[in-house]
Amino acid sequence: MITRRTLLKNSVLAASAFALPLEAVGARAKKIRIGLIADIHKDLVPDADERLRSFIDRMNEESVDAVMQLGDFCTPKPANQAFLDIFNGFRGPRYHVLGNHDTDGGFTREKTMAFWGMKRRYDSFDLGGYHFIVLDANDRPKDWKGGYPMSLAADQLEWLRKDLEGTRLNTFVFSHQSLERPDCITNQDEVRAILEAAKTTDGKRKVAGCFNGHWHIDHSRVIGGIPYIHVNSASYYYMGGVRNDSVDPELGKKFPILTMSANYDGPLYTVLEIDPTAGTFALRGMESKWRGMSPQEIAPARKKEEDTWARPSITAGQWTVV
Ligand SMILES: [Fe+2]
Repeated sequence: MITRRTLLKNSVLAASAFALPLEAVGARAKKIRIGLIADIHKDLVPDADERLRSFIDRMNEESVDAVMQLGDFCTPKPANQAFLDIFNGFRGPRYHVLGNHDTDGGFTREKTMAFWGMKRRYDSFDLGGYHFIVLDANDRPKDWKGGYPMSLAADQLEWLRKDLEGTRLNTFVFSHQSLERPDCITNQDEVRAILEAAKTTDGKRKVAGCFNGHWHIDHSRVIGGIPYIHVNSASYYYMGGVRNDSVDPELGKKFPILTMSANYDGPLYTVLEIDPTAGTFALRGMESKWRGMSPQEIAPARKKEEDTWARPSITAGQWTVV
């Protein structure tokens, strides 16, 4: 029998379901946690396995809901199998994002994906009442002249638009390269316009936040209401064109990247925690220290904007979902 009280209760429920996507209602009380690690660079550093193991052990201990690596992970060489096995040791869903270095040595994206067990270059999934989109920003733009291509081709843009249209859920977007650094994804304006245009049924923005690696910096910025958040590298801050003399010469010969970088002593990784009750999401902080010289010691006179955000740490942050 429908009493006035039930009616009232039902209409309140209907109203809240309207404001918050239906699928999220059931999962409202439960926080979602996704472990994130970026730019480990197995092919370039000597201790990638230990860094990855530290992440996976911790994520297993905490029983997070999923883990994701944000690219520049490893090429599909048989020698990297043991490294990949560490990642696959996570007891739960594991997600991959393709980085520009993951095809170094002439490998195709398909070859790398097959090695990792990644089904699609760009993809989306739902978890705990939220939608998650993984992009592949390694497409060649029409005017590509060489070097690492950094764009989303027309087919991927069209897919992105439709995928966002097709979900009622607040959405988190992941890419290796950045959608906010001016000198990065070449058609980032177009991508951001698609993200900004996506609205939930109540007219609010659908995209809660975007995460990326690639730059090895500790930085975030809001554009058009959407936060773009860098997840710092697990391993080092690349400086290029300068020399880190604090690296052991023998080690530097074997791993030249160390001499071109300011290196992190311990690994860096983080946890994205989404709190449906509070309507917020947070990134967990983590600190290491420089192993040897800092960027300031390596190049005291250098004026590069990204150096401002060069830190052996991930700063904790909190943002609202809408
Ligand atoms: Fe990269």
